[in-house]
Amino acid sequence: MTGPDFSKIETAGCPAGDAGRDMILRMNREHGPLRAWGFAHIPVGRAVLDVGCGAGAALRELAELHPEAVLTGCDISPLAVETATSLNESYVKAGRMRFLRCGVPDLPFADGAFDTAFSVESLYFWPDQLAGLREIRRVLAPGGYFMTALEMVGGMMDERQLAIVAHLKMACPTRDELEALMVSAGFADVTVEFEPEHRWLCAAGRR
Ligand SMILES: C[S@@+](CC[C@H](N)C(=O)[O-])C[C@H]1O[C@@H](n2cnc3c(N)ncnc32)[C@H](O)[C@@H]1O
Repeated sequence: MTGPDFSKIETAGCPAGDAGRDMILRMNREHGPLRAWGFAHIPVGRAVLDVGCGAGAALRELAELHPEAVLTGCDISPLAVETATSLNESYVKAGRMRFLRCGVPDLPFADGAFDTAFSVESLYFWPDQLAGLREIRRVLAPGGYFMTALEMVGGMMDERQLAIVAHLKMACPTRDELEALMVSAGFADVTVEFEPEHRWLCAAGRR
């Protein structure tokens, strides 16, 4: 077995440069099934936030499925924000979508600003996962839902994934660790589901 080509994913924690652009476009295409599985765990409200939006495919899919939704994507990567904005130009121009360069644990949004928040394949890179989750809970309205979907699961990774995680210094929680993080962050009705075929993990909770 050949090892992973790190040059293609070197900037996964904050995509930049040509390789970063290729990577976020690839994730736009390839994370579709993971996103769909994640969204099966929560209702989608009117004001929606994607934390670590990458090139923005998740919000585009939601815009098509939920014509009433107003969608905000945030990401610490200028390249991600620029790419997501340009790929979703018609929605941005129509005032239904916006992309901002910011990230957890410091979100520039008012308390309770969103009905739904989610994050796909991003939490491993956050500087402080608990503070990040608490911040997301802060910007959710009471009763609003959050979900995070992950394909690198602590204790469940193959050799290739372990090499990537070590190289990129990613912090991949186990199922129990993710549940504890969600509960410590103050989420109610926390559920954590493991999907054995793809080895995906999804946590969902309510403010
Ligand atoms: C592996 S990509 C996933 C992108 C997208 N969610 C997807 O599934 O295609 C991880 C993204 O999380 C972003 N990110 C990393 N740390 C972040 C933080 N503290 N706050 C917000 N976004 C962050 C990165 O810049 C990157 O775009």
